[in-house]
Amino acid sequence: MTSAAPHAQLVSTPLREVLEAFRGSFGVEATEVAYAPGRVNLIGEHTDYNGGFVLPMAIDRGIYLAARRREDGVGRIRSAQFPGEEARVEVAQEVVRGEPSWSNYVRGVMAGAQAAGARLPGFDALIFSTLPVGGGVSSSAALEVAAATLCEQLSGLTLAPEAKALLCQRAEHDFAGTPCGIMDQFAVVLGKAGYLLLIDCQSQATRQVAMPGEEVAVLVINTMVKHALNDGGYRQRREDCEEAARLLGVAYLREVSPEQVAAASGRLGPQLERRARHVTTENGRTLAAVEALERGDWREVGRLMVASHGSLRDDFEVSCAELDAVVAAAEALGEAGGVYGCRMTGGGFGGCCVALVEAGRAEEIAAQVKAVYFRETGIAATSFVTRPSDGAVARRLD
Ligand code: GLA
Repeated sequence: MTSAAPHAQLVSTPLREVLEAFRGSFGVEATEVAYAPGRVNLIGEHTDYNGGFVLPMAIDRGIYLAARRREDGVGRIRSAQFPGEEARVEVAQEVVRGEPSWSNYVRGVMAGAQAAGARLPGFDALIFSTLPVGGGVSSSAALEVAAATLCEQLSGLTLAPEAKALLCQRAEHDFAGTPCGIMDQFAVVLGKAGYLLLIDCQSQATRQVAMPGEEVAVLVINTMVKHALNDGGYRQRREDCEEAARLLGVAYLREVSPEQVAAASGRLGPQLERRARHVTTENGRTLAAVEALERGDWREVGRLMVASHGSLRDDFEVSCAELDAVVAAAEALGEAGGVYGCRMTGGGFGGCCVALVEAGRAEEIAAQVKAVYFRETGIAATSFVTRPSDGAVARRLD
């Protein structure tokens, strides 16, 4: 699947570094490279597995997989992050889970590609990430989608974008054990420079929403914490939502309004009512944010982001002190300080915040927020300014 259009990430400085790292690891030149970006979600959190709406974008950094074919039917996978470790796979046999644990994202995708009819050759592959450490911008989806794109490139099989995203989601469920929704993989496959991606997670219909880059910038601030609650907490929230939907007599919470949730208060009990209230109000906020974006009303988009954070903190209970501290610091700067809005992004319990800020002041805002955050928590946050970017791509290197 050689891409005709130039893709910023495949002509960039990191690519040279990636190829050098491959040579350093395997002692030969890579002949193919696949790349998939990370993502941030502007709004629409914990709605995807409820059949709701999300508005993520692919970012301008991600995961590279440099590779070279082998003639002996062996797949060797290494990671620049974990030198000395290696996964070995016989490509003619059914690919199963194995060590090292990071290789399961690739193994799961290879198993899915086999099931979709791909005949994979042997290969050497090196994983190289330009995503910030500490998580929160979907490095797992980036790795899965990069692996799927490499499988396409090596086998000649072409997957429809949605099928590719779903294959990667299945790999995450079955091989990594995380019951994620479809948002991350869809954003990473379908991302387009200059556009956010509105996904209706029930019908899986998508729409590109233009995000003009001159006036506003997307600032990502990494709290550098990941609370242990992450895995269990995510699964628990999913179960809460499924139980609330069952009590409301629907398949997905997407099908009910905040008013219907309020009316069913007695049946749901306080905790499930809070969970369902978050999901139903967040769906409304996401659609309202699309309308506001389309008329360039940044103030309203920011207001909706702040409301989203409050709902995730109080009703869905997936925020944490560190995420709240970043949001409070950004909010204290306010519009006069160039901040339209800020919220946690992704699964929660740590990870990153996303802020919509005046484009010319993004770096200054990042420095101010990080200074306050450090004073309050003693933790040095990291940050970067990003823009909606293109999704996954692969090419042969000549
Ligand atoms: C994680 C999951 C997504 C989504 C978000 C919360 O990132 O992978 O599917 O559920 O959490 O919005």
